[in-house]
Amino acid sequence: MSDDQVQVVEPPVSENGDSNAVTVTDGRTGKSEQLAVTDGTVRASELRQFKTDPEDFGLMTYDPAYTNTASCRSAITFIDGDKGILQHRGYPIEQLCEHASYLEVAYLLIHGDLPNEKQLENWRYEITMHTFVHENLKVFVQGFRYDAHPMGMLLATVGALSTFYPDAKNIGDPEERRMAGIRMIAKMPTLAGFAYRHSQGMPYVYPDNDLDYAGNFLQMMFKMTELKYEPDPRLAKALDTLFILHADHEQNCSTAAVRAVGSSQVDPYSAVAAGVAALYGPLHGGANEAVLRMLARIKSVENIPDFLSSVKAGNERLMGFGHRVYKNFDPRAQIIKKHVGEVLEVTGTDNPLLEIAVELEKQALDDEYFTSRKLYPNVDFYSGLIYEALQIPRSMFTVMFAIPRTSGWIAQWLEMLDDPETKIARPRQIYTGHRDRDFLEGRKAVGR
Ligand code: CMC
Repeated sequence: MSDDQVQVVEPPVSENGDSNAVTVTDGRTGKSEQLAVTDGTVRASELRQFKTDPEDFGLMTYDPAYTNTASCRSAITFIDGDKGILQHRGYPIEQLCEHASYLEVAYLLIHGDLPNEKQLENWRYEITMHTFVHENLKVFVQGFRYDAHPMGMLLATVGALSTFYPDAKNIGDPEERRMAGIRMIAKMPTLAGFAYRHSQGMPYVYPDNDLDYAGNFLQMMFKMTELKYEPDPRLAKALDTLFILHADHEQNCSTAAVRAVGSSQVDPYSAVAAGVAALYGPLHGGANEAVLRMLARIKSVENIPDFLSSVKAGNERLMGFGHRVYKNFDPRAQIIKKHVGEVLEVTGTDNPLLEIAVELEKQALDDEYFTSRKLYPNVDFYSGLIYEALQIPRSMFTVMFAIPRTSGWIAQWLEMLDDPETKIARPRQIYTGHRDRDFLEGRKAVGR
């Protein structure tokens, strides 16, 4: 061991015998300490005791992108990335998609257990009764340029909700917290519908409280002159399943953003707006839109080998492939793939991009570049094709992700507030810049 190395040895049981521990030996000083291992983790702050002198700040961990750092304890979503397992509150995603509705899953995420019949009925009623937004929000949406991206509009309008519900900043009040959750789940489809209609130059459609969650969203998107829009129940069901699949996914980029911003004790609308902003990015929720653009660019099955060569040469990424956590398969992708055919059958659309997607998946899964890096289709690879079959434009795809993820963000925000260990998120840095420069000398050096 060289002088500047820290050696970590993991004995089976600690001295007090009640938990595992690792022994850490600091090669710089010879100091050796046992650090408790709880749930497969050591507390990073425990490393601070390793110092080279009393003035030393103490040892830190360096973990850009938090690839190996647990930032919280959570009982909401379990993922085993190697085995392709996704469970919400212990229930497998496959069963939830088959038997539950999105609103039931949203209740489960937020409350921790399944609702009984009365609780589900009340939950549905409350969500349905809060779907309308203040008329000034409509005027606010009208202020956007004709070509504003719907996700940008959603980001702004969710943030704006905090100004309509100023009491939501009383995050210590359980009723304010509860109402903020209900309001956001209820109003997100309305804001999304308004954003879409604005981008089409069409009048905004108000919620229809006779319809279920997914059906109402479809009517706010597509109602024209008919007195009553009747969504096709098979399409509403497929959309509801997509909503379930996107409801939560533990500490992903947007959820981490909601928790980090929420840890400042800001109101929940502002915290969720941070989640929407994070989701907007092409490496996160923006990937489904990017997949469709990629498939359109590939144009035909014959061009797939060239495209894959370009990916392998590092010129671009195969969008909809790869995941930070899933390293064998993404169970959500498998469920979605099953629904693509069903939806196309109902809509009667024959999307040539589906053929390209299926062949692209096949060739990539046969290719050592992708298999050796454990790159498999993720949730976004096929979801865009369903959205397209539902006639939802590509610019709305990430919005389609944000609507259901709202329940996950709220569940995670509530859990964070109740966690006695929650403190304002504030990572450390390794400073790499200059120190103690003289300003006037600096000016002179640049000729001023
Ligand atoms: N196409 C080509 N190569 C890839 C891809 C891809 N989609 N994803 C990862 N790689 C390569 C990457 O270049 C690296 O190769 P090397 O070891 O030679 O440098 C290796 O695989 C590991 O990649 P990474 O960037 O370290 O992996 P990550 O865990 O940081 O990134 C990811 C995860 C999802 C950002 C990434 O796989 C990606 O950019 N995928 C495409 C975008 C996408 O589909 N995003 C949706 C994610 S699922 C929905 C959600 O949760 O938001």
